[in-house]
Amino acid sequence: LGLQREVDSHLRGYISSKSVNKENFSDNTFSRSSSSSSLVSDEGVHEQEEPVIRNSIAAEKILQRKSLQLRNRQQHWQESPEGQKMVEFRRSLPAYKARDALLNSISQNQVMVVSGETGCGKTTQLPQYILESEIEAARGAACSIICTQPRRISAMSVAERVAAERGENLGESVGYKVRLEGMKGRDTRLLFCTTGILLRRLLVDRNLKGITHVIVDEIHERGMNEDFLLIVLKELLPRRPELRLILMSATLNAELFSSYFGGAPMIHIPGFTHPVRSQFLENILEMTGYRLNPYNQIDNYGQEKKWKMEKQAIRKRKSQIASAVEDALEAADFREYSPRTRESLSCWNPDSIGFNLIEHVLCHIIKKERPGAVLVFMTGWDDINSLKDQLQGHPLLGDPSKVLLLACHGSMASSEQRLIFDKPEDGVRKIVLATNMAETSITINDVVFVVDCGKAKETSYDALNNTPCLLPSWISKASARQRRGRAGRVQPGECYHLYPRCVYDAFADYQLPELLRTPLQSLCLQIKSLQLGSISDFLSRALQPPEPLSVQNAIEYLMIIGALDENENLTVLGRNLSMLPVEPKLGKMLLLGAIFNCLDPLMTVVAGLSVRDPFLMPFDKKDLAESAKAQFSARDYSDHLALVRAYDGWKDAERRQSGYEYCWRNFLSAQTLKAIDSLRKQFFFLLMDTGLVDNNTEMCNAWSHDEHLIRAIICAGLFPGICSVVNKEKSISLKTMEDGQVLLYSNSVNAQEPKIPYPWLVFNDKVKVNSVFLRDSTAVSDSVLLLFGGKISRGGLDGHLKMLGGYLEFFMKPSLADTYLRLKNELEELIQMK
Ligand code: CDP
Ligand code: MG
Repeated sequence: LGLQREVDSHLRGYISSKSVNKENFSDNTFSRSSSSSSLVSDEGVHEQEEPVIRNSIAAEKILQRKSLQLRNRQQHWQESPEGQKMVEFRRSLPAYKARDALLNSISQNQVMVVSGETGCGKTTQLPQYILESEIEAARGAACSIICTQPRRISAMSVAERVAAERGENLGESVGYKVRLEGMKGRDTRLLFCTTGILLRRLLVDRNLKGITHVIVDEIHERGMNEDFLLIVLKELLPRRPELRLILMSATLNAELFSSYFGGAPMIHIPGFTHPVRSQFLENILEMTGYRLNPYNQIDNYGQEKKWKMEKQAIRKRKSQIASAVEDALEAADFREYSPRTRESLSCWNPDSIGFNLIEHVLCHIIKKERPGAVLVFMTGWDDINSLKDQLQGHPLLGDPSKVLLLACHGSMASSEQRLIFDKPEDGVRKIVLATNMAETSITINDVVFVVDCGKAKETSYDALNNTPCLLPSWISKASARQRRGRAGRVQPGECYHLYPRCVYDAFADYQLPELLRTPLQSLCLQIKSLQLGSISDFLSRALQPPEPLSVQNAIEYLMIIGALDENENLTVLGRNLSMLPVEPKLGKMLLLGAIFNCLDPLMTVVAGLSVRDPFLMPFDKKDLAESAKAQFSARDYSDHLALVRAYDGWKDAERRQSGYEYCWRNFLSAQTLKAIDSLRKQFFFLLMDTGLVDNNTEMCNAWSHDEHLIRAIICAGLFPGICSVVNKEKSISLKTMEDGQVLLYSNSVNAQEPKIPYPWLVFNDKVKVNSVFLRDSTAVSDSVLLLFGGKISRGGLDGHLKMLGGYLEFFMKPSLADTYLRLKNELEELIQMK
């Protein structure tokens, strides 16, 4: 009880002492964010209130003077030799022809939708046209333009580009702001930021006071944050009649957005790209004589098993697209192709991205094709890394000094970014491995060849089983067209699609919006913290509202973990969770780790769960790898604690300069451990912002050695992910309330144990294949479950008991339920006595 009080008073104290202007949006880019050095200089994190300038004549004068200064500076730059060159370049972009029409429409309408091919100048030019026209009208200092980007890397790179086009340094009239990083000065009039940043600003400034133009970019991607922002903005517009809203999209489905905003005018910028020839798999095989066999399509060496499971999971989901693809393949007729190609096609595995096939196509391009950079679209960061490792110095690719192999991802250092955009030396072939972020948000000019694996990692969510999955799935036709278009920027190009034409024909036209395919827990928390009323009502006003069942599941989950009370109001815990950019269950572990002074291990656990598993399980050395992992377990029946030990060991080894050797010996991924390391630093800064921890790291870790405590906090975070353990003669029987019998993934330390001397396991996630498999688990005792499972907040005891009572009854442990009730009565008497 004392602990509960302590938790509560900590949280409450925090709420009252802190303003709420932190970016908290669960922006998926979190795990790919900045380096630690930039964290220290997060000058842009705190909103700088503009000086209050009211109608006074003096203020008017200052504005006028500043506006004139801006105009002079702009003219000066445009007349300089470099400036003239820049102006010339900018005039050559397709957007320039539409400049007047765009500005006209903006002045006459509150909302406008702009579409145009990637690279036509929407992102870099349109915000500048607005800024310039305001400056020319000597109103420059009075305007304030915000342009949102779905990813932090595009916000940063676009801002840098626009500042260069204006002959300025970043932070003068143009700036950017992304989580934990920013370059923004007092006179910044055009700000590029992530969608999350604007949402956070709405938290403290519901009317966007002082903002004159909001530009929401890349709306065709239909990210959750963007769809969310549109609902909020739609409701804001009548309150701010002079505010202008511009929506920008790379594809032509502008009607949808226009009609959402009551028939807002649409302007399309006709683009210019060179023709790109599409080669589908059958042509590639025919042209190169490559022979596919089932073996050479195993992707990530050693991941075959995982693939098999995921393959079945895809089938199980019976996603419309997956079955349409299968049907199309069955009906396909490849009679006009050679027997060799036909045989190859019959071996083609649609569930594999086909590393060897990619390697082969790259080799073909290097040997046979004209100069030009190659852009390879992969599904995700893991694949990019594995493929990069596989390709590095590969003899098939010829002289390694003639190949510049680059990975394009969100946490790239600026120097690395520049390499991606720059033209390499003559004779050097630039190969960029990227995710679908290279589809529209960044433009690499010298790309002539595109290799498209046809997939993207997409979160999907099965509301019926309440299980989220992150699986590579087929992209849409719109995405495939975008990918192909990237090859025609400077000259006619070539696109290699690593799937047959008939599969392309079976793709959906557009991708399902994120709002309809992901769990909504974090979003619901944000709706509440923004005080937007009833969650269901709010979401029903979305462009395409999510299923009521998904919404209900999310609300129920938040109630179970104690983030919302029975009346759907944000609790103290909920408010704190809404400020952390991780899933609520992980946020809860961080908060409790801070409160209970055992922060270090919990930051490792949470970072590990939000990045990926650092334990490698190579296919041919599985036994060795499993026993290496088991060494970290020290018979404490916890994958999470094993991770903590592995990480701590690595840190020690790093200090002794032997980190790589340590990883090699223990089957650990150094790259993943590094990612965990950098994420931990970010967590620490975020928690410092909440006021729950201070610089005194010794204090925050006073209890870090106490494994019981850590176990308890893991339980508090992962509840209601619990299963009961019954040790049988030769096996262990595991059961969850929703699924009945479940199994453990073979790489769990608990899967190696003949017995688990604890009555419960808490787990991070489960995947349904033929049976339900639990991924990472930690064994916990009755008392830990009783005290930490469920809500920890004042007044939560009752609900907590009720809910646990249900679980205990279900698992037929009524005696425990009795103990609990007795405990409860005693506690209540105690409280009354006090
Ligand atoms: O937003 P949209 O895709 O329509 O195009 P943009 O990002 O405004 O880029 C317009 C042009 O600016 C591109 O075609 C590139 O030639 C150039 N650009 C660049 O050189 N460097 C950048 N970092 C961004 C754009
Ligand atoms: Mg753009």
